[in-house]
Amino acid sequence: MPTLDWLNRTEALTIADKTPYRVLEPVADYGDNSGENHADNLLIQGDNLDALKALLPFYRGRVKCIFIDPPYNTKSAFEHYDDNLEHSQWLSMMTPRLTLLRELLAEDGSIWVTIDDNEGHYLKVLMDEVFGRRNFVANVVWQKKYAVASDAKGFSDFHDHLFVYTKNGLFERNLLPRSDKQDSLYKHDDNDGNGPWRTDNLSVKTYSENYDYPLVNPKTGKEYWPPKGRCWYTSRDKMALLLANNGIYFGKDGLGAPQLKRYLARVQSGVVPSTWWTHEDAGHNDESRKESKVLFTTEDPFSTPKPERLLQRILYIATNPNDLILDSFLGSGTTAAVAHKMGRRWIGIEMGEHAVTHCIPRLQKVVTGEQGGISPAVNWQGGGGFRFMRLGEPMFTAEGSIHPAVRFNTLASFVWMQETGRASSGPWTVPLLGMHEGCAIYLLFNGILGDKRPASGNVLTNEVLAAIDRLCPHEGPKLIYGEACRLGAARLAAAGVTFKHIPYDVKAR
Ligand SMILES: C[S@@+](CC[C@H](N)C(=O)[O-])C[C@H]1O[C@@H](n2cnc3c(N)ncnc32)[C@H](O)[C@@H]1O
Repeated sequence: MPTLDWLNRTEALTIADKTPYRVLEPVADYGDNSGENHADNLLIQGDNLDALKALLPFYRGRVKCIFIDPPYNTKSAFEHYDDNLEHSQWLSMMTPRLTLLRELLAEDGSIWVTIDDNEGHYLKVLMDEVFGRRNFVANVVWQKKYAVASDAKGFSDFHDHLFVYTKNGLFERNLLPRSDKQDSLYKHDDNDGNGPWRTDNLSVKTYSENYDYPLVNPKTGKEYWPPKGRCWYTSRDKMALLLANNGIYFGKDGLGAPQLKRYLARVQSGVVPSTWWTHEDAGHNDESRKESKVLFTTEDPFSTPKPERLLQRILYIATNPNDLILDSFLGSGTTAAVAHKMGRRWIGIEMGEHAVTHCIPRLQKVVTGEQGGISPAVNWQGGGGFRFMRLGEPMFTAEGSIHPAVRFNTLASFVWMQETGRASSGPWTVPLLGMHEGCAIYLLFNGILGDKRPASGNVLTNEVLAAIDRLCPHEGPKLIYGEACRLGAARLAAAGVTFKHIPYDVKAR
């Protein structure tokens, strides 16, 4: 497959792998974070490369929709972040992040990325490589402006690209709700109980000889054939039935050419999304700046926010209530705010100080029922909560041992991912992490057996094995991770135990 080449490409392709796993440290909880729906609402401050890697053991394959609005590389210095990377550096910045994002995406998930012409065409080729060309769904053109900038050099740019890819082509999109404007096209009514209808073309392009026959106007006796190269959309029999049931329109006086009566009651319950989103459909930059001004009266408004309506449309098409949404270039928090108001779970990552100065206050306002943006449209009344986290130490110290800050559930998630390839099914309160292909996986770490003496309970001895068998027995093979093993090979074999050593056998590096 043809690929894009740039300086340091080879190195860029290895960064995701080489990035160390870090610990995610809770800083504060806001609102009511206890409900099942809100347990995953996380705002993380830090570089998204580290944060995405840190999320992997817990969320690999679990995210239904990723939206990112990365810096477009416009060579500007915005108030809250710089948007000026050398072209190759920008590609090297995006590559490992897209790689990690793909790993986090669910098998039936989708990723949506806004970009403009500065890097858009390069990003398309890069995403083809990371996500696979066959998984490309659409390049939606979003009309972000509605008035020409008279000071623009050359052309006044009116649109952003919105690239949509699936993880594996399994994505099922929702239809968009029908608007009043669309329904108002159905302006005729025969008052026969069939409800409003509009006229539509009776012929189609996909030609079939069987569907190419004359249609007779019953009032005039005149024959009508489909236009050259086209045929009627249905068979002779079905057309006769339509005619008998007053389903064909021959003009006001009944003397004209046939047209189909398309009844509102029989059209799909929604509209297939198109690749052309006007500022009326999905908001525009002026709208988002106004939203930002209202939200951040005491802080500086954010310079490059997206309108809430754009995110609403994306999340409406790509997700259902309770699905998990991720934005790793969170900016002022639009994705998280909209996801929250739409009853989705969310994870947002932002490295700038505006994670604290903008995202936290904005999301607190959402929790308490803020009424800007899409709130009236979704009847948002407030509720829920979120957890603010920062990136902690790497899992492993420079000497290769596990960092003292690492707790049982964090290491357990790594061990579980390493053995099963799946995200954590914790939290755990016992050494048994779960079953995988008939084998029970145990972790002895951090005094999980309740023995607080240094290394006790973390070393596999006869007593510890007996304790495991009492607490979480398993008849078949066992895989036990621990800091040391005092049992000989014969004893391990007799008990059906394979022992793995912490930290040497943990591959979280
Ligand atoms: C275009 S803005 C996103 C705006 C956002 N969609 C909104 O509605 O407010 C891009 C954001 O990505 C952040 N960012 C850039 N590089 C990052 C990185 N490596 N890790 C985390 N955030 C990053 C910037 O600080 C900036 O806030």
